[in-house]
Amino acid sequence: MKVDPFTLVILGATGDLTRRLLFPAVYRLFAKGRLPDLKVVGYAMEDWSTEQFQQHLEKNMQEFVPDFSQESWEKLKAQVQYVSGDLTPEHLKALEPVVQGNALFYLALPPQLFDDAAIGLGSVGLQNEQSGWRRLIIEKPFGWDLQSAQQLREKLHQHWQEPQLFRIDHFLGKETVQNLMVFRFANRFMEPIWNSANIAQVQITAAETLGLEGRYKYYDQAGALRDMLQNHLMQIFALTAIEPVSKWNADNLRQHKVEVLQSVRPIPQDRVKDFAVRGRYGAGEMGGKEVPGYMQEEGVPQTSRTETFAAVKLYIDNWRWEGVPFYLRSGKRMQQGYTELAVQFKEVPTQLFSGVEDLSNWLIFRMKPEERIDLVAYAKTPGLDLETRTVVLSTDISRQQEIDFTAYEQLIMDAAEGDQTHFLRFDEVEEAWRILDPILKAWEQGQPEEYASGSLGPNGQGRLMDHGHYWRSPED
Ligand code: BG6
Repeated sequence: MKVDPFTLVILGATGDLTRRLLFPAVYRLFAKGRLPDLKVVGYAMEDWSTEQFQQHLEKNMQEFVPDFSQESWEKLKAQVQYVSGDLTPEHLKALEPVVQGNALFYLALPPQLFDDAAIGLGSVGLQNEQSGWRRLIIEKPFGWDLQSAQQLREKLHQHWQEPQLFRIDHFLGKETVQNLMVFRFANRFMEPIWNSANIAQVQITAAETLGLEGRYKYYDQAGALRDMLQNHLMQIFALTAIEPVSKWNADNLRQHKVEVLQSVRPIPQDRVKDFAVRGRYGAGEMGGKEVPGYMQEEGVPQTSRTETFAAVKLYIDNWRWEGVPFYLRSGKRMQQGYTELAVQFKEVPTQLFSGVEDLSNWLIFRMKPEERIDLVAYAKTPGLDLETRTVVLSTDISRQQEIDFTAYEQLIMDAAEGDQTHFLRFDEVEEAWRILDPILKAWEQGQPEEYASGSLGPNGQGRLMDHGHYWRSPED
């Protein structure tokens, strides 16, 4: 699709998100010829000149863009300028003369500044679409609980309309998350088996080896439940469970996701222990090196009760999913870093052959470290006897190279095209908070269970599993 010429205005242009993820993605889209008429305006408090800003970007791209080309950068550089200021309307006014026509405002700012920025931009009329479209991109967290999310919505809507708001969840830009939709709805054989008659359980895991990485200011307020489950894992959950859509468009898809979230069985606050587990990493060994525990990390207050691991069990009360547990979990400083959605099918009713004992198939959508779909099935062991062995049918890994874009590139392109399919509508955010709010409340008391860095997480996670279920390891 041809994209209209537009100006990308990055608020928070000297920060970490811009440096590591956002600008590298913008540069790569430009270098690939996807955004030929792009103009970029960086906006931040630092009293920099445009040249200083350009040098800062160049230095960081040399670090973060493996296929960086000086030639493409020289072309883009000519279109990059810098404006210095804070988020008050008096300062934001300085953007008026440099932003003409279509514009995409990206708030690469700490979340507590989203409302000031959105209101500030609006009060100087920069959201006004008279001379071209105006869009605002914000990235999670969208509030800290249901109530604060609703307050944020009110503030965003003071000047901006819902179709102008692009709420990013970068997992929706991941190739395999999108493939979950394509694989499910482009294959006829999927629909008859995608239900509680055939599926025993679903597990969504995002395990990271990383620890706090200096992000204590944000992370200690957030914790794993807010940082990963409320958004990324909840999105994968909703996409797994949606009903087929009749037409592929943003509103249909988002409506179907909301219906799933609304059908989730509420978790009573006095039974949170049966549905959720929290943990916090202690000291341990990662890759042969001793690492400190969370409470010893720089900046973490000794009164902290923040969890670095969260696991939740959800049920969906509708016809398709009655009785199927969906287990979601995410943790930092775990033994192995991987993200996957794994669907286990029920066993065949009779075991006709010797060989493998548990004949239940797993369909696994792997997002990290590789993007791949695997189907664990059973076939005959070559030889004279009718014996089963495990085989893995897999999408071709050698085609991994074809995925040469990042989630941010995908989402910036979508926002430039005005396609909201992979962005969150407010009611999705709201429903996700509604599901998790009782857990957040219960976790205001007590402490998380400690697990050693480099381990599989807290022992307590096992108590969530229904009879006969166990947490997978990535090799299973
Ligand atoms: C971010 C979280 O949203 O997602 C981080 O704030 C986490 O804590 C990251 O590390 C994981 O994303 P990815 O794409 O690296 O799996």
